[in-house]
Amino acid sequence: MRFPGFIDVHVHLREPGGAHKEDWDTGTSAALAGGFTAVLAMPNTNPPLTDDSVLQIVLAIAERKARCDYGLFFGAGSGNVDQAVRSADRVAGLKMYLDQTFGPLRLDEMLTWGEHFDKWPKHKPVAVHAESRSLAAVLFMASLYGRPIHICHVSRREEILMIRKAREKGLPVTCEVCPHHLFLTHADMDRLGPGRSEVRPRLAAQKDQDALWDNLDVIDVFATDHAPHSGAEKDGPDPPPGFPGLETAVPLFITAVHQGRLTYDDLVYRLFTRPMQIFGLESFQDTFIEVDPYSKWEIRSDQLFSKSAWTPFEGMNVQGRVRRVVIRGAEAFKDGNVLAPPGFGRNVVKF
Ligand code: NCD
Ligand code: ZN
Repeated sequence: MRFPGFIDVHVHLREPGGAHKEDWDTGTSAALAGGFTAVLAMPNTNPPLTDDSVLQIVLAIAERKARCDYGLFFGAGSGNVDQAVRSADRVAGLKMYLDQTFGPLRLDEMLTWGEHFDKWPKHKPVAVHAESRSLAAVLFMASLYGRPIHICHVSRREEILMIRKAREKGLPVTCEVCPHHLFLTHADMDRLGPGRSEVRPRLAAQKDQDALWDNLDVIDVFATDHAPHSGAEKDGPDPPPGFPGLETAVPLFITAVHQGRLTYDDLVYRLFTRPMQIFGLESFQDTFIEVDPYSKWEIRSDQLFSKSAWTPFEGMNVQGRVRRVVIRGAEAFKDGNVLAPPGFGRNVVKF
């Protein structure tokens, strides 16, 4: 079965500063193995991507190492509104962290949100991490500034219902949901153990997961929030939150199609059509993936390209395997082998 090249709008590739967790080579290899031809990389690197000098550094790393296509997010900070605006043309969007998570980018001061909303170019998306009451606050602030926003990794019933309501009121809000919130809940935490079940937003209750499925029509995008950390870090005394997800998402979704919970059209809409529309990305000819929808296999961490080398879906039986990935006419992945060399990937941000 052939699909357009899927696009993951939320991944963490960890360079600079965290290459022991993942680097642009291993992360984009994982993307290809997972059926993604393009990824949008988050700015919570070390140093974070909050100024032009770091933007130059990450663009150079990506140009040298990316095996799939890519775009970057600029991180909203408290003193970088003008810097962000000057760099806007070279990135896919602005990322605002309004709740605590991995990295130093949380913005507590609501007036700073307002400054970014005021000045960031209207045609470029603003992606926000905003849970629960922060979501209510940011929807209100965005509406005051007439600013379209994209809500990252929605995980709770109250959040998806709030977004539904906001849309009914005509607010320009889009949202994404991650596979781990659609397929895992509190009930999986014992199996995963304390460190390996840490993720932000946290795994939620069954009622939250049910609400995501019941409100599928409100979900614009499926994004992995691929957030690799090493097994040693996850099992250590202060485990960082985050799950790798690039290589397991598409097989999990195809399995859900077999179970009658999704259709193939649902997948194409949320993994290709909406990402392209919301982020206004460059589309390339002859870019597609081929999937064997009937192949049955067991998810195993020793088969992953991601340097993090673990998965919260370990041992799950899935049906559906990515066989071949073609980007701009060239075979980038085939039957378990990554064929695109480092530096093959292109920036999908329209300059
Ligand atoms: C992410 C990470 O590790 O960078 N962790 C996570 O639990 N999702 C941070 C983020 O996505 O906000
Ligand atoms: Zn993230």
